[in-house]
Amino acid sequence: MPRAAIIGTGFHVPERVVTNEDLTAWMDTSDEWITQRSGIKERRWLEIGPDGRTVESGAEMGARAARMAIEDAGIEPADIDQIIYATLNPDVFFPGNGVFIEDLLGLKTAGAMDIRNQCTGFVYGLAAADGFIQAGIARTVLVIGGEIQSTALDLSTRGREMAVLFGDGAGAAVVQASDEPGRGVLASVLHSQGRFALDLMLRSPEAVVPGRITPEHLAQGQHHPTMDGSLVFKHAIRRFCEAIDEVLEKGGAAIGDVDLLVPHQANQRITEAVGSRMGLAPEKVFSNIAKYGNTTAATIPIALAEAVREGRLRRGHLVVTVAFGSGFTWGANLIRW
Ligand code: UT7
Repeated sequence: MPRAAIIGTGFHVPERVVTNEDLTAWMDTSDEWITQRSGIKERRWLEIGPDGRTVESGAEMGARAARMAIEDAGIEPADIDQIIYATLNPDVFFPGNGVFIEDLLGLKTAGAMDIRNQCTGFVYGLAAADGFIQAGIARTVLVIGGEIQSTALDLSTRGREMAVLFGDGAGAAVVQASDEPGRGVLASVLHSQGRFALDLMLRSPEAVVPGRITPEHLAQGQHHPTMDGSLVFKHAIRRFCEAIDEVLEKGGAAIGDVDLLVPHQANQRITEAVGSRMGLAPEKVFSNIAKYGNTTAATIPIALAEAVREGRLRRGHLVVTVAFGSGFTWGANLIRW
């Protein structure tokens, strides 16, 4: 049975840098608080153009990341037969962003599927790509994680706990059937626990509300994301560690075999706690949260693309990707690069 190998990566982030200091113009916060609590120094937010819309759509950012991954893979766009787009922020309520990618890249009716698994979206997407390839449904899958967070955030002090954490961006991976022994996705584990669904969410617009959103909902700020930060923090550390242990056991590997852990970039304190609980040296744990913040489904593919370009991820390396987020959902992939 063929395995799913990642043969190319790419990413795109907006040009506009928003520093912690910049945020103090809108809300009661400080560079010191944000740096100490999250490790974030700056994030990228899309500019708003004269027409009142972001200068790029989520799908356009995803397409730029995808073009870079396709070039890196040395394939043609026409080789892609399936798109998997992970996002919690589709550009429109429906359809999902995958179909916009099909059009932007001119993929001649390749299959397109969106995954709504928030911070865990890329991990679920990679597992799905592996399944599609092993089942013979697809041979070359483009997996994208991309988000526009900035337009949803409450930039007043009421929303500061969320607003300082999130950024915009997209990352992509070309995943292709490979017969190379031992190469590719070796194992994936996926989990959810819906009883915590309301503890990290964005409620409106809601399908159960006639008209989907009301002036009262807007006044209450239901169109902004909300979370119980400390609850998410505690669950995240526990579930990251469990998922890493589980995926290693499933793939027949040990923590000492891992060359690079690429965790979802939620908080530098979470990343460090997980690295230290797993007994991994800091250089084996990838982090770029200081410059991009949390870009939810995009953090892992952006990190993979940067790790490759920094020479920290090379052919033959054993990599673990792991994520936790809204749902709650969590999971991990074990990959021989
Ligand atoms: O990807 C998954 C999605 N989300 C996450 O992974 C987030 C997980 N949670 C976290 O990263 C952390 O819980 C936070 C960074 C959100 C908060 O860090 P914390 O150490 O849990 O903060 P805390 O709860 O100990 O401190 C909260 C205090 C509150 O003030 P009081 O009530 O103690 O006086 C907040 O009002 O910090 C205040 N606060 C802020 N102060 C300045 C909250 N946000 C800010 C802010 N600037 N941006």
